[in-house]
Amino acid sequence: MLRPTVRLASALGLALILSACGSEDEPDVSYAADVQPILAAHCTSCHGAELQNSAPSHLHTYEDASAKANAILNRAVDGTPSPMPPSGLALSADEIETLEAWVAQGTPE
Ligand code: HEC
Repeated sequence: MLRPTVRLASALGLALILSACGSEDEPDVSYAADVQPILAAHCTSCHGAELQNSAPSHLHTYEDASAKANAILNRAVDGTPSPMPPSGLALSADEIETLEAWVAQGTPE
């Protein structure tokens, strides 16, 4: 059993380490600057203002994309339940990191 002071010290240390990691691994991202260009490059040819190729939903506005944020990650990063784009996962490691950071930060506009 750790003494309370030791426990407090390790809790503070852990919090510091976690916050340091967070700021290093996750640069601030926004929909307008970072996410919209990724969706425009890979997704909105089907999921745009005019839905194409039987795509069921729009992903070309902030409202649409943020409402679907988790589904976008599942599809485009994990390929679950099926990959997006349908021809096969196409995002680069950088693009994946950006999408993950955007969702982790609460989908900032
Ligand atoms: C070639 C056209 C095409 C492209 C490009 C495309 N999709 Fe899709 N998408 C579809 C079709 C068709 C469906 C419906 C079939 C299905 O669910 O697999 C779909 C379904 C989805 C769904 C599930 C339905 C929903 O609204 O929740 C999501 C999420 C999605 N796509 C995200 C994306 C993302 C993110 C990209 C870009 C990385 C992308 N799609 C690129 C055609 C496309």
